[in-house]
Amino acid sequence: MSQIRKAVFPIAGLGTRFLPATKASAKEMLPVVDKPLIQYAVEEAYAAGIRHMIFVTGRTKRSVEDHFDTAYELENELELAGKADLLNIARSIAPEDMICTYVRQPRALGLGHAVLCSKELVGNEPFAVLLADDLMVGTPSIIAQMVEQFSDWRATILAVQDVPREETRRYGIVSAESVTQDIVNVTGIVEKPSPEAAPSTLAVAGRYILTPGIFKELENLPRGIGGEIQLTDGIANLLRREKVFAYRYKGARYDCGSKLGFLQATVDLGSQHNEIGAEFSAWLDQRKPKL
Ligand code: UTP
Repeated sequence: MSQIRKAVFPIAGLGTRFLPATKASAKEMLPVVDKPLIQYAVEEAYAAGIRHMIFVTGRTKRSVEDHFDTAYELENELELAGKADLLNIARSIAPEDMICTYVRQPRALGLGHAVLCSKELVGNEPFAVLLADDLMVGTPSIIAQMVEQFSDWRATILAVQDVPREETRRYGIVSAESVTQDIVNVTGIVEKPSPEAAPSTLAVAGRYILTPGIFKELENLPRGIGGEIQLTDGIANLLRREKVFAYRYKGARYDCGSKLGFLQATVDLGSQHNEIGAEFSAWLDQRKPKL
């Protein structure tokens, strides 16, 4: 059994970069090809052996609950129509051994606050956090790679990647010392520094394994950048008490909270899709000369 049993999915953000699509609907329900973003993240956690999924939800996010619930009418119709393949797809969204629980973040006070809302459900054990708008593709799944690292290091682990220096303003950036080729010892972390102020170009992606010590730090935090309670600030304080490592994950990341990243994911995953991939790729190729 995985040493990490629970995954937290903070999905209570306002998704302003995706307006008007996100005015009344959840950003996490936007589909890349045929699957909503949140399902990619849940499947990633499930593939890492995690069975308890905790969603921190907000207004407009009810469709996420419906998505992971049984759809009796739909299943009945598909069964009567003899559409076994589609029935399997509908049923596989929520395998029987997967538990989904929901907690509400009453106001979008920041990612750190959203994680704090999961405290009672998580309890006193290490847990994973997955931001569904970062669509991550890797084999094994990125969070599975991190669970594996956790079993060696037994401490908080942040997924990181190198980014161009001019992009540091979009990320939490760590200062770090190399430990192995893939693991660095985090000595500091700052949210969205300017390129001049950034201590490195190692940026945190939306995957974390956190120790329960983070909750105490988040409880005591004042509001940070943008008036929000920042997870980055909580991790910065945790560093005073515990080791924190960053892991250079193996795989690809698409920032699906932005329109550009979302379109890139759609093209890449569409080209590899088992049903339409070949046809879509051929269409992209024959279209190129006209662009
Ligand atoms: P983002 O920084 O992408 O914010 O949050 P956002 O509100 O979703 O989107 P924009 O920037 O307005 O377009 C990163 C993650 O943290 C969650 C979001 O749902 C997303 O998964 N989050 C953020 C919360 O759950 N609660 C918050 O108060 C803020």
